[in-house]
Amino acid sequence: MRCAVFGTGYLGATHAACMAELGHDVLGVDVDAGKIAKLEAGEVPFYEPGLAEILRRNLEAGRLAFTTSYHDAAAFADVHFICVGTPQKQGEYAADLSHVNAVVDALSPLLTGAALIVGKSTVPVGTAVDLVERVRAVAHADVELVWNPEFLREGFAVQDTLSPDRLVCGVERKGEGRGEAILRDVYAELIDRGVPFLVTELATAELAKSSANAFLATKISFINAIAEVCEVSGADAVELADILGHDDRIGRRFLGSGLGFGGGCLPKDIRALMARAGELGANQALHFLREVDSINMRRRTRMVELTRQACGGSVLGARIAVLGAAFKPGSDDVRDSPALNVAGQLQLEGAAVTVFDPQAMDNARRVFPTLGYATSAIEACNRADAVLVLTEWPEFRDLDATAIASVVNTRAVLDGRSCLDREEWERSGWAYSRLGVAV
Ligand code: UDX
Repeated sequence: MRCAVFGTGYLGATHAACMAELGHDVLGVDVDAGKIAKLEAGEVPFYEPGLAEILRRNLEAGRLAFTTSYHDAAAFADVHFICVGTPQKQGEYAADLSHVNAVVDALSPLLTGAALIVGKSTVPVGTAVDLVERVRAVAHADVELVWNPEFLREGFAVQDTLSPDRLVCGVERKGEGRGEAILRDVYAELIDRGVPFLVTELATAELAKSSANAFLATKISFINAIAEVCEVSGADAVELADILGHDDRIGRRFLGSGLGFGGGCLPKDIRALMARAGELGANQALHFLREVDSINMRRRTRMVELTRQACGGSVLGARIAVLGAAFKPGSDDVRDSPALNVAGQLQLEGAAVTVFDPQAMDNARRVFPTLGYATSAIEACNRADAVLVLTEWPEFRDLDATAIASVVNTRAVLDGRSCLDREEWERSGWAYSRLGVAV
């Protein structure tokens, strides 16, 4: 099939390369000429394990190309995927749909033959129905729209796209139109491998994505709320999560306590979901998500408090090493990064903060240019009064506690992600503390 993919960020670049990997002819489209030039040269403009190989293989095979031209895309493809971002609006909870609307408005008048538009971006429930009207008002041909939300995780984007847990196909009216059949053809290889293909109406498809993210965020904030109780009662949040996780009904995944969730999805998606529920009149229904959000933000404040304590009551003039800038390991994404938020708060309180991250240095510098940056973990720790591990990269788990001990001012380590071997650090003379246990 011939597919166009609009938006070449984390979602779109991965989707374009993976659709080509499935054997389709794919054109990736973006308004950012710099991004397009990189992708055409086989370079992924962000860190995503395994993506560069798939990109290059399919560029070479001639199945994948990139363009900034909507005319070319409209003429080329039968299936048009919308993969642009829906960030949080400035100063509001609601999602900013301007990029989605811009794609639809630019593309629709150019469609002269029968075509299918497939929405993949995370949008507030009700958006797809509005888009159908928008398309039909200007398209010169028979254009259908379906919603096929994407559930991929950064760091596992290729695996999640080529082996998803499920495929969701939201249609205007079940049993009508060609959209479902075309989407089944697009994903035929995955469906044949047994991936469930779930057909529903547009609203359910849109809401499935928002509610999946809300559930995951709630699970993380649940364990972090329990972690607050652990801190005042002498219980241990990690051991407790292990115990809870043995119950199949609960499960251990997403019970990782610590600095909480960040990134380009969970924080803004729960806020957008609350905003849309309110607009629709279900004000009370998702009120608890405010609590989920504030529990999450409180973990960052708690980390700052622990650092103050480790530095004798104030961080003014203290040298702090922050290991980790990405919102999670396996990514260079620093959007709403808990690690950088803590680093920024400490700097505001007068600390000299030096950050190191294995992948996210360029992005971190762009967002927080006034923080100090080092070229290695050990360099960041040089003469530090406290070492904070805020993103659980494998190389931080494997740090040599004795080697680091020899370069710091004070052997105080604060483990924001419960990822270090406490005994090993204590053997090397460190005062070890972490979130989720009594200090
Ligand atoms: C998430 C969803 O998992 C994915 O399905 C959706 O499509 C997009 O949003 P992503 O943002 O890539 O994916 O990251 P995820 O792995 O879900 O982690 C989100 C945040 O939660 C990270 O900051 C992570 O550190 C944190 N987290 C995760 C925890 O604090 N504890 C956990 O147990 C798990």
